[in-house]
Amino acid sequence: MKHYRHKIFTTIIEENINKQILKPGDKLPSARSIKQEYKLSTSTVQSGYDYLVFKGLVTSLPRSGYVVAVQNNAETAADVYPDLPPIPRDPVFQNNISLTSSLQNHSEYTSFNVAVPSDTFVPQKLVLRTMQEVIREKGAALLRYYPANGSAELRELLSRRSAAHGAIIQPEELLITDGAIQALYIALATVTIPGDIIAVESPCVFSILETIANLRLKTIEIPVRYKDGFDTDYLRNVCDKNQIKAIVLTPNFQNPTGILLSDEKKKKVLEIATQHQIPIIENDIYGDLYFNDSRPSTIRNFDTTGLVITYSSFSKTIAPGIRLGWLAAGRYYSEAERIKFSLGRSVTPLNQEVVIKLLSSTSYDRHLRSFRRQLEHQSITLLNQFKKHFPKQAYAHAPLGGYSIWIQLPPLVDMELFYAKCEQFRILFTPVSTFSYTNSYSHHYRMIFSQRITDTSLEAIKKIGNFLKP
Ligand SMILES: Cc1ncc(COP(=O)(O)O)c(C=O)c1O
Repeated sequence: MKHYRHKIFTTIIEENINKQILKPGDKLPSARSIKQEYKLSTSTVQSGYDYLVFKGLVTSLPRSGYVVAVQNNAETAADVYPDLPPIPRDPVFQNNISLTSSLQNHSEYTSFNVAVPSDTFVPQKLVLRTMQEVIREKGAALLRYYPANGSAELRELLSRRSAAHGAIIQPEELLITDGAIQALYIALATVTIPGDIIAVESPCVFSILETIANLRLKTIEIPVRYKDGFDTDYLRNVCDKNQIKAIVLTPNFQNPTGILLSDEKKKKVLEIATQHQIPIIENDIYGDLYFNDSRPSTIRNFDTTGLVITYSSFSKTIAPGIRLGWLAAGRYYSEAERIKFSLGRSVTPLNQEVVIKLLSSTSYDRHLRSFRRQLEHQSITLLNQFKKHFPKQAYAHAPLGGYSIWIQLPPLVDMELFYAKCEQFRILFTPVSTFSYTNSYSHHYRMIFSQRITDTSLEAIKKIGNFLKP
């Protein structure tokens, strides 16, 4: 990992801001005093301060130096979900919504709606070159069925990658799937029958809610709070009072909130699940897209019970069209394998071999390192534009990874007018009613930052922010 010399002082400033020892508006040491104290060059000190400004932690004031930036405060964001009673619901959306492809085909619009990497972030040359190599090397063998559970070599590589961040996943419990959503479908179909009640994070991305609906499962939505994510007290209460058959969540950089659950909370979810013997189905699709120095853990890292089913895919990190995901089914493997077989015998061999090649070399990790930096830069640019132009009462959570920012608007905003303005300014957001079976999020919207940010997208944020200002 590249070591930045400026970290010697930026880490201390960051920590002091996070611990609120340094408060918004506090003046920071001058570049000259930092230079002397830490024996750094002028350019290193400058790049350190640039980094802190870039992260939105510090503001540069003309002729006054650097001060701690004003942060939005999660505690004061009206973090309440009035329509989220802890009762089982049929998996039916309140509004008649359709998110099929027609809605997304507005190339002339500024798109903050689709959680996919833009073409410029997909490592196209690398993937296409690797495909050609694989075709040359494997030839007609790619035209056969591969094993229903996937290539043994790929499962071995995935197992080793997980071990590198502390999650024990055996190659024998892995199933290679057609993306993450198929993995979720298999996991849910393995541990539930129609009519069962499951607990699911709320808000939650549409594709997960649709999968739950297809399986005819009743749901209790568990709030994901700005402050500390998946609400484990709420979960405990729900599990005490209902026969919950699965807990479905995305602990790392959840979609749509972008929130990262702490290790303590991950352990707490596991503790509640263990007490009630409920399988946890965790989605780790954004886990590799962290902005800090190290990869976050999965709940699987702490599991000694075998209750945790983990799944993921390469849709967000390589390309969605590669259609390659995986499911670590653990003690549920036999049934999961049977269901996988019934959904289509094997994932396209060519794509499995391409991912094998990428994982066996340094290519994937090299791509991730640069992609993470670009994503972080995109998120900070968008957030800064948001802070500059939106009313003070609007709140946005600064993500530490992933693709999305979840925004809460002041209650007085007329949301119908808001969406009409978005249409007028040609900005696309996913309709918020897709993130829950309830109407709880009328004043929220999701901003995806995995599309290339341009002057046009920044102008779009400015226009909509200015429209909202009283
Ligand atoms: C949390 C989450 N899970 C799953 C998916 C879809 O993954 P895949 O294309 O691999 O099925 C998405 C993409 O929108 C997502 O955000």
